[in-house]
Amino acid sequence: MKLTDRLTNKLKHAEHIVFLTGAGISAESGVPTFRGNEGLWRKFSPAELANFSAFMQNPDLVWEWYEYRRHIVREALPNPGHIAIKNFEEVFPKVTVITQNVDNLHTRAGSSVINELHGNIERNYCIRCKKRYDYIVFERSEDSPRCECGGLIRPDVVWFGEELPHDIFKNSENACRSADVFFMIGTSGVVFPAAALPYTARGEGAYLIEINIESTDLSQIADEHFFAPAGVVLPEMLEMIRTLRQ
Ligand code: OAD
Repeated sequence: MKLTDRLTNKLKHAEHIVFLTGAGISAESGVPTFRGNEGLWRKFSPAELANFSAFMQNPDLVWEWYEYRRHIVREALPNPGHIAIKNFEEVFPKVTVITQNVDNLHTRAGSSVINELHGNIERNYCIRCKKRYDYIVFERSEDSPRCECGGLIRPDVVWFGEELPHDIFKNSENACRSADVFFMIGTSGVVFPAAALPYTARGEGAYLIEINIESTDLSQIADEHFFAPAGVVLPEMLEMIRTLRQ
């Protein structure tokens, strides 16, 4: 890998690095992405599985779907991409992760500041009294879990048509405003408002780098691209940055 003079200069002087990640960062951990040929939304219908009215109509089906995905992420391990992002903290004074992923893998990799825009698959809450429940194991033969108050428990993830957690989105926007270098990694950039964040960062002068195996809706605003797997690009880039900033 070769870094351009411009990127070298940006990385040499940067204080705040922001990573916006999507499903592609976890692909090398064996977690399926949503779009593309092998994507989850090719085989499953978001209309049946990822919105509140679908949940109210058929909570057992929605719980089965999340249990299927929980099983995958519990078996998965953070990959060299997640680990490199964590290790950027050894080189830069401030590193912020903004993720659309619900898979918990940035947390398991040890990143310090993580804004989970779409929630976390390991957290749940009661739709009636809002009591929180972490780490539920659901058997397919069971009815959907219920709270002690009798309300249905739902996964703490953002479904289609729902708002993002307000504070987390605000924090993310603030991080974008002070980013020196902003990485867009493994996201198709089609789901808003998450996909608006690179525009915010760019508007405030951040240098935008895209890492993806193919071009996306965000490619046109990137200052530079690395069209290769994140788990390959990030560790290699980090080693070059360590030398740069010595
Ligand atoms: P997508 O499935 O839309 O996009 C995944 C992106 O990762 C694609 O652009 C792939 O080219 C890229 N990719 C795949 N493998 C990669 C690798 N090894 N290295 C780098 N890039 C790779 O996933 P998201 O953009 O995350 O929302 O999707 C956004 C939201 O749509 C998700 O958070 C989810 C979904 O509906 C909710 O659940 C609310």
